[in-house]
Amino acid sequence: EKGGFDSFMDKEIHDQPQAVADTLLGRTDASGALVLDDLRIDESVLRAVNKIIVVACGTAAYSGHVAKYAIEHWCRIPVEVELAHEFRYRDPIVDERTLVVAVTQSGETMDTLMAVRHAREQGAKVISIVNTHGSTIPRESDAVLYTHAGPEIAVASTKAFLAQITAAYVLGLYLAQLRGNKFPDEIGALLEELRDMPRKIQTVIERGEYVRATARSMEKSDKVLFLGRHVGFPVALEGALKLKELAYIHAEGFAAGELKHGPIALIDEGQPVFVVVPSPRGRDSLHSKVVSNIQEIRARGARTLVIAEDGDDAVRPYADEIFWIPQAPTLLQPLLAVVPLQIFAMALATAKGLDVDQPRNLAKSVTVE
Ligand code: F6R
Repeated sequence: EKGGFDSFMDKEIHDQPQAVADTLLGRTDASGALVLDDLRIDESVLRAVNKIIVVACGTAAYSGHVAKYAIEHWCRIPVEVELAHEFRYRDPIVDERTLVVAVTQSGETMDTLMAVRHAREQGAKVISIVNTHGSTIPRESDAVLYTHAGPEIAVASTKAFLAQITAAYVLGLYLAQLRGNKFPDEIGALLEELRDMPRKIQTVIERGEYVRATARSMEKSDKVLFLGRHVGFPVALEGALKLKELAYIHAEGFAAGELKHGPIALIDEGQPVFVVVPSPRGRDSLHSKVVSNIQEIRARGARTLVIAEDGDDAVRPYADEIFWIPQAPTLLQPLLAVVPLQIFAMALATAKGLDVDQPRNLAKSVTVE
């Protein structure tokens, strides 16, 4: 069932364009308006929402970080992202006007389920973003947005992550539509951009051999750092998590702006650092800030592994390796930028002779605390 691939993970990475396309499928009604799968929340309640809290664990929580940037930008509703196990054991400020979004591949993660119950007990409405039909969390939610990634077998999440991010964009656009934050044609244009992402993800996958070759040359690395900014920050965190789980290498992701506040002390001769570079076509100075960061760490000896948009020549002088990704709107870039990091972690683990589908000590679904 691996479809000719060496591992389920490899297959699932290749499934990603389809997972994103399927998650977008059938989201609009005859009038072109966005719809949710299973909505048991009055639209007036959703219009009155004054705060969103995303609860999730692990990779699913990183999709929540991306959701925060998109939903706040499109809907002007404050969004917090909290690990489900932290949320459920403190005294979060949650009431009838709070919308809790639970993100989970399995739909069975105990901490996420408990966070859902905790939120609903306090009157919040819960929308879950779930991949597994018939699982517990959708049953206990007020509305569901299914990710149509298909079964994910490898323990390390890949296609479910891209599908979660996609579903979060759909939710953000749905709320923007409902609350009148955006004109229908603006929403239509964003949906068009989204529908074009599977093709671009495919391009990144097709460029994977260069990433694999780089990974094979780094078999001896014992520490790898990841930097990103804005939506590139959760991508950096996810790249680090993938490397930890699969290759058992100490990996850490940082917000690039934090460098000078501590992490730059970790840089010494030959230290590999991945940097996710924002689009140079973005509105603000994010791009030049990150290019300066690459310059700074390289001057201190780092080996810079840069993920940059096609045509971004500004990174060339400071990059030891460049993994090119197609151009995309800033908020949608995570769907592309994370793919080389997934392939890198898989290839490095494979080079070390490790089982990429079944990393040690991990279970696919964490149904205990
Ligand atoms: C990492 C990974 C985990 C899960 C986390 C949540 O590759 O798979 O971090 O994302 O355990 O699981 P779900 O999404 O099933 O709630």
